[in-house]
Amino acid sequence: MKRKYYITTPIYYVNDIPHIGHSCTTIVVDALARYHRKLGFEVFFLTGTDEHGAKVAQSAEKEGLTPQEFADKVSERFKETWKKLNISNDYFIRTTSSEHKKIVQQFIEKIYKNKEIYKGKYEGLYCIGCEKFLTEKELEDGKCPLHPNQAIEKQIEENYFFRLSKYVPTLIKLIKNDKTNYIFPQNKRNEILSKLTEGVEDVSISREKIKWGVEFPKDKDHTVYVWVDALINYYSATRFLKNKKDFWPADLHLIGKEILWFHTVIWPAMLLSADLPLPKKVYAHGFYTIDNQKMSKSLGNVISPIDLIDKYGVDGSRYLIASSFPQVNDSDISWDKLTEKYNADLANGLGNLISRVARLAQKEKIIVKDIKVEFDSSYDKLIRSQNITECLFEIWNNPRWGIQAVNKKFNEEKIWKKSGKELSNSLEEIIGMILKISHHLYPFMPQTTKEIESIFSPGKTVKFPAKPLFPRIAN
Ligand code: MSP
Repeated sequence: MKRKYYITTPIYYVNDIPHIGHSCTTIVVDALARYHRKLGFEVFFLTGTDEHGAKVAQSAEKEGLTPQEFADKVSERFKETWKKLNISNDYFIRTTSSEHKKIVQQFIEKIYKNKEIYKGKYEGLYCIGCEKFLTEKELEDGKCPLHPNQAIEKQIEENYFFRLSKYVPTLIKLIKNDKTNYIFPQNKRNEILSKLTEGVEDVSISREKIKWGVEFPKDKDHTVYVWVDALINYYSATRFLKNKKDFWPADLHLIGKEILWFHTVIWPAMLLSADLPLPKKVYAHGFYTIDNQKMSKSLGNVISPIDLIDKYGVDGSRYLIASSFPQVNDSDISWDKLTEKYNADLANGLGNLISRVARLAQKEKIIVKDIKVEFDSSYDKLIRSQNITECLFEIWNNPRWGIQAVNKKFNEEKIWKKSGKELSNSLEEIIGMILKISHHLYPFMPQTTKEIESIFSPGKTVKFPAKPLFPRIAN
């Protein structure tokens, strides 16, 4: 039986259209899914959209649409964008689907039965942007730091509460366990541990006034809190889809840093209360900033993946996003920096190498040898620990087989000056290295791998490409 690997992205709110932030998480998950498939794993890669809650209902109203019409429209945009970016998700989940809603209700019923839910009154400050209650301490100048343009609402309502505080000792033990390394990178783990030790209150998991949501079991006047509904997506997909039951628990939830608490405290506590196994790991990455500023609609600096594709092509965009991935800290990007990197690494680096070697090898009628390539152990180690930027750095800079090393070899040995057997031996050796590079590029740049393998196709003569792989771009 094949080993299984289940990996997820957050499900994105439909109040926003896809941007580079959503794209980085999705591209990295795609690369990890492709890598595991190449190793022979049976992979389940899940992404989707989070469609309930006040935020979505408000955005729909602004557009004069019903929340469902609005969600249908925007979730389609996400689907189209992922298709354009060549994302290989196995399923796209929508929280408004009846299959998902049913599992959410069953889940709540189960924890209700386990006596983990009670009714109470909640009074607090609600940020619609985050869809969560904030404490006074979390505010900056009376505003939510993540949504400074939105007003904070004081809400008093009757809610159903989940006994989150009861799980604190178990969660601390789980997170501190060095063997399982539940949360990483390390800085995120420490952040959650210190918050957990500061004291945790029970959370309300229903909303009385928000109508756009899953009906709360046993009380028609309430809807399920949108975060509870959303988190259950990771589990629900494995229940209502055929042949996916064995994929739970997930191997990895890849998320951004701002939703760490939900994924590493609320979600595992919910699962424990429902007697379900916990996901194996949660990785929280940093954020992109653009020219050292927060990316935001009001600043007009949001980078869309479609604009990136128009400029750099699909794999060019995938590479630029993955190589600037904010894997531990935030990562600053700008159009100028992206173009500079595209020209240096793709046009001059990879593209130039392929075209020089292909031109010479075609002239020499070299027949490509069928060689077996495997992932290098240093690359393996990096990708398995989500060290994405280092992993790509390795493909460019490995001293034995990296792109720079092969370009250097070509130049220093002045291969074009050689002739006869000496020339064909050198070209065969270099083509072998290019095929190795191409194999390692596959998780990140699958179309490029396909193109390189059609230029240097085993058993055939080399075919110089009709178009350059990565044409230079003017700044
Ligand atoms: N719907 C919730 C998630 C529910 S998951 C059960 C949500 N959605 S979101 O649309 O706001 O997407 C958040 C995710 O988008 C982040 O966790 C991160 O993966 C990505 N990013 C959004 N902005 C980002 C940046 N500026 N930089 C990098 N990634 C960011 O939260």
